[in-house]
Amino acid sequence: MFKNALILGASGGIGGALVAALTAQGTPVTALARSRDGFDVTDPASVAGHLGALKGPFDLIILATGKLDGAGLPPEKSLKALSAEAMVDQFATNAIGPALVLRELPRLLPKDAPSTVAILTARVGSISDNHLGGWYSYRAAKAAANQVIRTAAIEIARSYKQACLIAYHPGTVASDFTKDYARDKLPLEAAAAHCLCLMSRLSAAQTGRFYDWKGDQVPW
Ligand SMILES: NC(=O)c1ccc[n+]([C@@H]2O[C@H](COP(=O)([O-])OP(=O)(O)OC[C@H]3O[C@@H](n4cnc5c(N)ncnc54)[C@H](OP(=O)(O)O)[C@@H]3O)[C@@H](O)[C@H]2O)c1
Repeated sequence: MFKNALILGASGGIGGALVAALTAQGTPVTALARSRDGFDVTDPASVAGHLGALKGPFDLIILATGKLDGAGLPPEKSLKALSAEAMVDQFATNAIGPALVLRELPRLLPKDAPSTVAILTARVGSISDNHLGGWYSYRAAKAAANQVIRTAAIEIARSYKQACLIAYHPGTVASDFTKDYARDKLPLEAAAAHCLCLMSRLSAAQTGRFYDWKGDQVPW
């Protein structure tokens, strides 16, 4: 069981389910959300201010923020649908946001004890697993986030030898996020349970990897 958890994006479907599951286990949870606390990953001052005010250390940190639209537009089905504005918006939330969070995170990790950090990206951010095409902005932003995570894991491992930082694909989950899209969705409670099950099994040996909800590695 974790000693002290931090869930960012706690107002979302998956973030909220993670808070509920951890609380039910008796794990103390600090939760931050944009709509409730003003924690906005697209605003560097907001990220630095909110995370800078936390004391920690946290042995579990999960970033569950994200969006599917770009500037209000749905994911692109074709090149013709590309819009610079939508792409910039996607990168601000899904790539630069996680990078800004990672910039503030190391000081919240225990120096001499194990810790696990998961950033929710998405399988569609895998370049080698892309067989369907489409969704240019979301895919590209999530791929960029994956690269940031991998790079940060290398750096963090130098000073925090027991830390594990991964990119995580939560599955296709029944949240607001997927309301217009997928079928065969994982219920939120199951998604949280799968996520926490993997988190409890990870160690520093797995840092810098990309995992899915089944605990399988996703190719970059
Ligand atoms: N659901 C799926 O099937 C699925 C599949 C693959 C990957 N994912 C990834 O999993 C993550 C969570 O998805 P979800 O299903 O829980 O989505 P969700 O229910 O739509 O929740 C999205 C969360 O992101 C927050 N958010 C959005 N923009 C933000 C910003 N600029 N700053 C801070 N918070 C922001 C929202 O905050 P407010 O509501 O407070 O504004 C909300 O808490 C996302 O990264 C998504 O890409 C989800």
